[in-house]
Amino acid sequence: MNFMSRNNAELHPIEIASIDEIRATQLKRLKWSIRHAFENVPKCKERFDEAGVHPDDLQQLCDLSKFPFTCKNDLRDNYPFGLFAVPRSDLIRLHASSGTTGKPTVVGYTKRDIEIWADLCARSLRAAGLRKGDMVHNAAGYGLFTGGLGMHYGIERLGATVVPMGGGRTEQQVGLITDFQPDGIIVTPSYMLNIIEQFHKAGLDPRESSLKVGLLGAEPWTEAMRVEIESVCDMHAVDLYGLSEIIGPGVACECVETKDGPVIWEDHFLPEIIDPATGEVLPDGETGELVLTTLTKEGLPMIRYRTRDLTRLLPGTARSMRRMAKVTGRSDDMMILRGVNVFPSQIEEQVMATRGLASHYQIELYKAGRMDAMRVHVEATPESTDEMSKTAAASFLTKRIKDIVGVSTDVTVGDPGDVERSQGKANRVIDNCNKE
Ligand code: DLL
Repeated sequence: MNFMSRNNAELHPIEIASIDEIRATQLKRLKWSIRHAFENVPKCKERFDEAGVHPDDLQQLCDLSKFPFTCKNDLRDNYPFGLFAVPRSDLIRLHASSGTTGKPTVVGYTKRDIEIWADLCARSLRAAGLRKGDMVHNAAGYGLFTGGLGMHYGIERLGATVVPMGGGRTEQQVGLITDFQPDGIIVTPSYMLNIIEQFHKAGLDPRESSLKVGLLGAEPWTEAMRVEIESVCDMHAVDLYGLSEIIGPGVACECVETKDGPVIWEDHFLPEIIDPATGEVLPDGETGELVLTTLTKEGLPMIRYRTRDLTRLLPGTARSMRRMAKVTGRSDDMMILRGVNVFPSQIEEQVMATRGLASHYQIELYKAGRMDAMRVHVEATPESTDEMSKTAAASFLTKRIKDIVGVSTDVTVGDPGDVERSQGKANRVIDNCNKE
């Protein structure tokens, strides 16, 4: 694959600027962003006043730790437009989270926000190795979700051809990939597995497809999953990170030549890692909750937004800007079983390491007496559907989860197709604990 040799052309100068230059840009922009939020978002001023801080207190980047956090609930409490810093009429786009529980969170963009977002999505695509003239199959959902439209504008900004497929209609996805011959795909890792399966059903080998790179994100996924997808598809799988509250996809993206964690586009977003329990800022390298502050956003500036995503900050490699380690999970997704903290990604690693099992899985939580218990639903690969193989896989997986993760589980090995397929973000955990 001569794909990697294309990299590093046409980088934005800031991507390879000195750390000093990046920090100076950040400080200048942070001062603007804090003042912009303070002067234009009444709720934000109220918060700053309560905490006894003023934009003038920010003289250096580390002064940011004096300022209060913003949480998802702040968006919900001020639904729909209460945190916007510009009149609604100055916004040219709204997006919103699905809001399965409670009110959705609404985010808004000015014309300039959309421009910057397109630039950062284009920068991410370029980091993944894609170039002007390439074709990109966009299987991220369109509509209120930021994935589809966000990357769509980025693909156009790069000068590539976008196939605005969106999520779902998996048979058609495979048909179009086969017929149009795209170079790249944007998709969630769990939906990529679904597409791979559809290739096989159609009697096609995904290795033979034209795809050279996938930008995968919108949900946690493990290194083991990367290895699996890369080997089954013979393409690079790079990690694309983002969240609506900050901008959408394109907050950070891995470089194809290193694939060592998404590079945070630090000229627009300032990362911090905090101890989720105390809120204390942790040094780079330590694992904790990622907190992001927008540096250039006009419509919805976010000061110290608590993402709930657990990761750590790493020094720059392919770019000068810092990287984030692969997200291990969201603090909201943490399950506690008999005192042991468990994330779905830890279960994923063990499923991927078990012979005879497909990569699809779902975790069910239920009550066993007064205790919470976990059942892992997996399925046999088409070659391993006989009872003996299933039993062997079940006992292997149960033992690995016990030995490595440290919890006892039930494992149910079904037939191919038994585990619910993802069309976008996978629903990894079914909580039946409160059911009779
Ligand atoms: O998922 C934006 C996006 C679209 C990112 C397409 C990448 C590709 P939200 O729907 O607001 O936005 O969900 C954001 O998804 O806080 C993480 O918990 C999770 N997430 C996003 N990217 C990754 C990733 C989009 N690469 C939430 N790895 C975030 C792990 C991710 N988790």
